[in-house]
Amino acid sequence: MAFPDGFLWGSATAAHQVEGNNIASDFWALEHVGGPMFAEPSGDACDHYRLYREDIALLRDLGFTSYRFSIEWARVEPEDGVFSRAAIAHYREVLEACHEHGITPMVTLHHFTSPRWLMKHGGWEYDGTPDRFAAYCRTVMAELGPLIPYVCTINEVNIASLTRRMIEDMTAAQRADAPTGGEQAPVGVSADAAEQARDWRTPAAAALGTTADNLNLFLFTWSDNGAEIVRRAHIAARGAIKEVSPSTKVGITLALQDYQPGPGGEKAADERWAEAFDCFLPAMDGDDFVGVQNYSRVVVGPDHALPHPAGAELTQMGYEFYPQALENVLRRAASAGLPMFVTENGLATEDDTRRVEFVRLALEGVARCLADGIDVRGYYYWSALDNFEWMLGYRPKFGMIAVDRETQERTVKDSARLLGDIARRNTLDSAAD
Ligand code: BGC
Repeated sequence: MAFPDGFLWGSATAAHQVEGNNIASDFWALEHVGGPMFAEPSGDACDHYRLYREDIALLRDLGFTSYRFSIEWARVEPEDGVFSRAAIAHYREVLEACHEHGITPMVTLHHFTSPRWLMKHGGWEYDGTPDRFAAYCRTVMAELGPLIPYVCTINEVNIASLTRRMIEDMTAAQRADAPTGGEQAPVGVSADAAEQARDWRTPAAAALGTTADNLNLFLFTWSDNGAEIVRRAHIAARGAIKEVSPSTKVGITLALQDYQPGPGGEKAADERWAEAFDCFLPAMDGDDFVGVQNYSRVVVGPDHALPHPAGAELTQMGYEFYPQALENVLRRAASAGLPMFVTENGLATEDDTRRVEFVRLALEGVARCLADGIDVRGYYYWSALDNFEWMLGYRPKFGMIAVDRETQERTVKDSARLLGDIARRNTLDSAAD
């Protein structure tokens, strides 16, 4: 159960979910539209924009060797073509803080949020978005590349296809009056919210200076054209990064559920995997690694996801507690022939003893993959901090470290100590063994 030398141990965050006051982003505007879509606005979040030094030092003290965080496009380019030197200087300081503490940074350049101005052009359906995104990536990497050994261009390039499937599954389940796939989709899109979203689109679009039929948010880029634009954005960004920072390793991350066939669901389960993974293989040609992100399994019937098994333990997201999913997904994703990092894995729970159990079981699966020669280079728990879970606000607790939303005080949970201890010793075997 020992891990290879240099295996990266970390936890992950995303700018909008932890920094606070991301006011030039599309999400910030949407959170203030009112209506049912957002449980609450992100506000100061975890004030990580100000407190990053303390947070990075805490992660180091716990034993971690790496930290995955995102740079916010809306801060770096708050208006079309206008780059903020101050924002770039801020991220330079964050990266320097990582290096000072012996923490290897893994940076994401787009994690769901986009600048507001991009939405005026048509967002993720706009033909110019790949070039605009690549220009931002070029600017950041020309300045900060030497400090960034690993970069994920886009977080979960496949998320839109997953949100669409989730909503379809939940709508079908509601029709059949049977709960399935969880009470919420991964980013908190419930079937009810999808209904209500129709009325919400008009004020939401107005807040972003566009019209409802031209509101194309990253998470809901459901058309073939939108999917192609996302893929092109990655390819253009990779090209720009390789030019200005050739030593940085580049990849994408993918949301990969463990699709298991239920009765009669073999074909449908394979289709879902193809949609989530195989579709992106051409765009990954030229990448240095792939980030695998997994939270649970989905048991698929001939048409839709099947209800959770009777008595299944569910997380706060309504997913089944199923840490074995990670091993299954890593074995399958190895077919890309790229080194893999587990860039996200975790669960939302108020009961940290379940997190301890989840992490331990998930890592046993990673260790079995390694023993079989599968190339996994690191593991990042989602998330370092209890943070802003998109439409669901602050209710789901994914963090290894609790955050008091009034005082911003951090409280380390046992799961953080466990994972930090594993990181320090680089093995799952306990010190007593
Ligand atoms: C996303 C995170 C999110 C997490 C938990 C992933 O899909 O990358 O931003 O918080 O899942 O739902």
